[in-house]
Amino acid sequence: MVTILAIESSCDDTSAAVLRDNVLLSNVIASQKVHEQYGGVVPELASRAHQQNIIPVVDAAIREAGIGKEDIDAVAFTRGPGLMGSLMVGVSFAKSFAQALGKPLIEVNHLQAHVLSHFIVSEEGGRRKEALTDAAALSAIPTPHSTLLTPHSPPLPTFPFLCLLVSGGHTQILLLRDHFDMEVLGQTIDDAAGEAIDKAAKIMDLGYPGGPIIDRLAKEGDAEAYKFATPQIAGYDYSFSGIKTSFLYFLRDQLKVDPDFIENHKADLCASIQKTIVSFLLKKVERAALDHKVRQVAIAGGVSANSLLRSELQRICDKHRWTAFIPPFKFCTDNAAMVGIAGYYKYLRGEFADISLPPYTR
Ligand code: KG4
Ligand code: ZN
Repeated sequence: MVTILAIESSCDDTSAAVLRDNVLLSNVIASQKVHEQYGGVVPELASRAHQQNIIPVVDAAIREAGIGKEDIDAVAFTRGPGLMGSLMVGVSFAKSFAQALGKPLIEVNHLQAHVLSHFIVSEEGGRRKEALTDAAALSAIPTPHSTLLTPHSPPLPTFPFLCLLVSGGHTQILLLRDHFDMEVLGQTIDDAAGEAIDKAAKIMDLGYPGGPIIDRLAKEGDAEAYKFATPQIAGYDYSFSGIKTSFLYFLRDQLKVDPDFIENHKADLCASIQKTIVSFLLKKVERAALDHKVRQVAIAGGVSANSLLRSELQRICDKHRWTAFIPPFKFCTDNAAMVGIAGYYKYLRGEFADISLPPYTR
């Protein structure tokens, strides 16, 4: 049995998790609210907030898991890709902590971690400590609950399977032949899907991050109200910058006629742009699964929290009698549990990291 402490700090969430083998014991996330007012992540503020949060978050994760520091067998950390200043905090902390414990380090690629989140065995329903924004809230986390752990194990994917990785920074269709054998079948040639959604929200002045807001407003709207052209692009690749531009020009034209156009048609606009992006994403995924004769399809990354993407993936999989792997919400956006599971599989392979490894941004 191996106990892993995992650290994630690649963007604007400071997170620490403890896993015992593949079972999640705790997953604490401090989200940084400070960026909302700027309409995007401000790197300088992100690294500062990580610096403030990292110790209370790790402390809370260890306490909540009901273990002691001495029980930790290895420290896994996100090495990249991400924001340099943000990564530096988690990487430096992980190195010092591992060094102090005299335990090995495991470096994890953030994108692989998102995909491997499908292998986490967690309690049914899960408990995510959400939006813990300050140290006081973190230290208020009570304590061990390990006695009530009855791990819920949904069927895990088997190899090979396909994964659509969609986040604010990445959009890729991956073919997994093994935990760390991920072939990129296709990817975006410009913006990521989450970035496109966030930009659409920004154009409508909805707030940041736009994904969850568009998702919520879209529920009240008509997805067929407006049509936005999707680009013809070869193979399994994507492009989102054209969709964003056609959305922008469409609104600019409408606003000339009706200055309140956005306000009056917000829900329809959200539903339509969301449908355009989700249909485009899944059309290529369906094609890739058919071409590669894969019968299991997963989604991962922040955008996999999108309700339409989830329901449409399920519908497509039902149609073909494929199995859909849709992550619990708590594992969609950035979290250390996914870093821990990736760390666990690396531990089993004996892949440890040198103390001198620097973070990487891409
Ligand atoms: O994986 P993630 O937390 O961070 C990155 O590594 O980028 O993904 C963040 C992205 C943002 O673009 C956010 O708007 C999007 O995920 N997102 C959503 C939803 N929840 C988060 N997009 C659409 N619908 C959602 N419900
Ligand atoms: Zn991410």
